[in-house]
Amino acid sequence: SRELTANIVWHAATVNKEERQKRAGHKSCVIWFTGLSGAGKSTLANAVEYELHQRGLASYVLDGDNIRHGLNRGLGFGAEDRKENIRRIGEVAKLFVDAGVITLTAFISPFQEDRDLARSLVEDGEFVEVYVKCPLEECERRDVKGLYQKARAGEIGQFTGISSPYEEPASPELVIESGELSVEESVQVVIDYLRQKGII
Ligand code: PPS
Repeated sequence: SRELTANIVWHAATVNKEERQKRAGHKSCVIWFTGLSGAGKSTLANAVEYELHQRGLASYVLDGDNIRHGLNRGLGFGAEDRKENIRRIGEVAKLFVDAGVITLTAFISPFQEDRDLARSLVEDGEFVEVYVKCPLEECERRDVKGLYQKARAGEIGQFTGISSPYEEPASPELVIESGELSVEESVQVVIDYLRQKGII
């Protein structure tokens, strides 16, 4: 509000995003992975980061381990909390992009409106929405964390795909069918896209 910000003066940055990108030798962007629980978002985000890192590029993965346990500890899975979860992640991703880092986010982010908000925070071309597509039946069959079973048993409420909606991306930059491609092939699809767009 007005009172709280009245005495804060913005300093013109002497080092800006362009300068940081020039030093890094590549552009920065958000690679926003979205999809059901168990679709393979984290696996893919980490594998892409590994590849970028091997090439000497600046990268960072934001996912549940460093966000829901830290910055967003205390937020649940109701629609309002998911919205706030994604809003904060979008703001953090924006800061990382400003820092010149290729930022990979791995959250279910089930609502189109929330993903669109995250997109709107960065410049055109800086947001790469990647739909990690996997049929619910397959995610449930894998049930890596045993959460689907608990959700079916009613032990976890508002579980995405079971008792809470997942809105498929309307126009993602990439769709990766994780059941059809190997992790290596999926990584290549993302890397090819980044090259094609001149980001790396
Ligand atoms: S969201 O919707 O983007 O805010 O969710 P996210 O921050 O990605 O957190 C999803 C992980 O939390 C675990 N979990 C649940 N997921 C969905 N619905 C409910 N109710 C829920 N409760 C806990 C689950 O392990 C998700 O991990 P991933 O990595 O997606 O499997």
